[in-house]
Amino acid sequence: MKKILVAVLFLFTIVPFAKADEGMWLPLLIGQRIGDMQAKGCRLTAEDIYSVNQASLKDAVVLFGGGCTGELVSNEGLLFTNHHCGYSYIQKHSSVEHDYLKDGFWAMNRSQELPNKGLTVSFLDRMEDVTEQVLKGYNASMTEKQRDSVIRVNSKELIKKAVEGGKGLKANVEALYYGNQFFLFVFRVFTDVRLVGAPPSSIGKFGGDTDNWMWPRHTGDFSIFRIYADKDNNPASYSEDNVPYTPKKFFKISRAGVKEGDFTFVYGCPGSTKEYVVSDDVEYVALVSDPEKIALRTARLDIMKKYMAQSQKVRIQYSSKAANVSNAWKKWQGESKGILKMKTIEKKKEYEKRFKEWAKGTEYDKVVEQLEALYKAKKPYNYAYEYYSETIRTIELLQLAYRVKSLFQLKDPKGAKALAETFFKDYYQPIDMECFVASVKAFDSKMTDEFKPEFFKEKMKEFGSAEEYCNYLYNNSLFTDLNKILSLTEDDIQKMAEDPANQLYDAFNNWYQKSLRPVLLSINSEINLCYRKYMRGQMEFEKERQFYPDANLTLRVAYGNVKGYSPADAIYYDPVSTLKGIMEKDNPDIFDYNIPQKLRDIYAEGGHEKQPVCFIATNHTTGGNSGSPVLNAEGNLIGINFDRVWEGTMSDIVYDPEVCRNISLDIRYLLFNIEQIGGAGYLFNEMVFVD
Ligand code: ARG
Ligand code: GLU
Repeated sequence: MKKILVAVLFLFTIVPFAKADEGMWLPLLIGQRIGDMQAKGCRLTAEDIYSVNQASLKDAVVLFGGGCTGELVSNEGLLFTNHHCGYSYIQKHSSVEHDYLKDGFWAMNRSQELPNKGLTVSFLDRMEDVTEQVLKGYNASMTEKQRDSVIRVNSKELIKKAVEGGKGLKANVEALYYGNQFFLFVFRVFTDVRLVGAPPSSIGKFGGDTDNWMWPRHTGDFSIFRIYADKDNNPASYSEDNVPYTPKKFFKISRAGVKEGDFTFVYGCPGSTKEYVVSDDVEYVALVSDPEKIALRTARLDIMKKYMAQSQKVRIQYSSKAANVSNAWKKWQGESKGILKMKTIEKKKEYEKRFKEWAKGTEYDKVVEQLEALYKAKKPYNYAYEYYSETIRTIELLQLAYRVKSLFQLKDPKGAKALAETFFKDYYQPIDMECFVASVKAFDSKMTDEFKPEFFKEKMKEFGSAEEYCNYLYNNSLFTDLNKILSLTEDDIQKMAEDPANQLYDAFNNWYQKSLRPVLLSINSEINLCYRKYMRGQMEFEKERQFYPDANLTLRVAYGNVKGYSPADAIYYDPVSTLKGIMEKDNPDIFDYNIPQKLRDIYAEGGHEKQPVCFIATNHTTGGNSGSPVLNAEGNLIGINFDRVWEGTMSDIVYDPEVCRNISLDIRYLLFNIEQIGGAGYLFNEMVFVD
């Protein structure tokens, strides 16, 4: 009896944690979660994960570029991230003679590693709760504007102090919980980061857009870089004299593999989530924004695909553009579907009803009603803005016209011409013209008169149809002709401004700047103010709930378990994929599934059927987590995060433990590629394996 009682008590003590899996936790506060992590299998302490006094796992994680994560894997600055995170750098080094995108790239020694202009990696030196300092001098009688200015002045001072005397230091003050809390983040930023290796795209992007956001997945989504420092191990701009950086900490690699149920955590920089918004916001996303944007992108993608199927050249020209358009397009489909399936709008409405009741007589009274009114006021402006962004703003010729003119205005004719040359390499006018017609028609038919620029209305009247306007514009714009652009001089700025492409671009841009942007800025700032209150209110209303701040590209820990899922009735997905699955998908006639012959040959030798490729787990991740280290209970590297499953993409708004899964590359497939495909097994010498 006593035993049972103890067991029951034990159960209760872990109950407040038990739901979890959802959450992106601040490493500094991981002490509040470590009990739950350990209950789920983790064998680390909070200090192992984050410490300012000793080297901890955080010292092996970096913000890679402006929107991905990377991790250190050797004492000599070696770094792993995703192929899609390194993509633009790999592309910049690629030419017809050296097509590293197509064939892959492998440095066979340090001198072959390639520098990358503009690429930075940032290590988090420390983070600190600075709420008190940031709000010093603020009192409740101040206006919002005054509060902002107090915050700005205090933050500036904190940042200045934080970076004093350190080489390559950079600091930010970030608002958490809609400005209820402020954290200082101090980074060390390295700028000499060199490309070491990348698989061919037929491995690194295997499955392409067809498999993107999907499970089962078989993508070898990794690339390898190395950080260089000056001889004192400090950040320095590129120099031949620089030496590999010695990190405070790097991840050891586990080849033991994963199986269903294993504890895992992801340490990285998730970009943006909104878990605490009101139903009005979610309703707009799921019923208006996502479906409308999906339809607009479907139209553009269909046009691109039609021409891409007709010509090899056009396919290459538009593959990266189509990939960009389709990435969010596909995510939005999963997201809106997931929100509806979860009944999130109804659930939030019900929650708000209870909150309103509870809030009566408190400072939170009417805050939900205020938010409702603000969203109602925002809707037509937001709708117009999104429509503009997904139609007129996407027309390639208009973008080119504007950017060339701007560069001339900045007295950079060389830059303008270089830009035009790059542009025309990947430009196919029939696609752009059809997209123009589709965009203009969509905008014209969906917007009410008060949400159309005057100039646009006049032109539509003058030409009578989108087709006629299109023909006129593309026949009369100088920007359709590279030679005409190359012969422009600074005396032609007026001529560029009067070009029909720039006239349309400017008319829309001015309209946006004058009629939309100020209204949106002002409503958004009021919304944010209400959320600051509503957020605090929710924390008081649900005292038991463990809150985590919405993602904002700051370092976070998400944890969970390797786990399959059921996407629909009678289907169950296993959590691990293998090389056998790649061979099943292999098809020389389908671009996305045409693997390198070398991989076919290796497979034919036999013994590789069970080679693991990817796995899924319940870690709560989002965009920006790409490239994040996926770690086991001991904190050793078992994978690299690169995606989420389609059915779970609503987790930026609402997390469903049943279907939300992050997708990781199994580290053993990365090692397989280094050795078997790249022939660069020498890199293993600097890694540390624990099996
Ligand atoms: N869906 C992944 C991430 O959002 C991967 C994107 C790159 N891959 C692609 N096929 N477009 O953002
Ligand atoms: N591919 C995403 C990225 O680039 C990660 C996928 C996600 O949104 O979870 O960060």
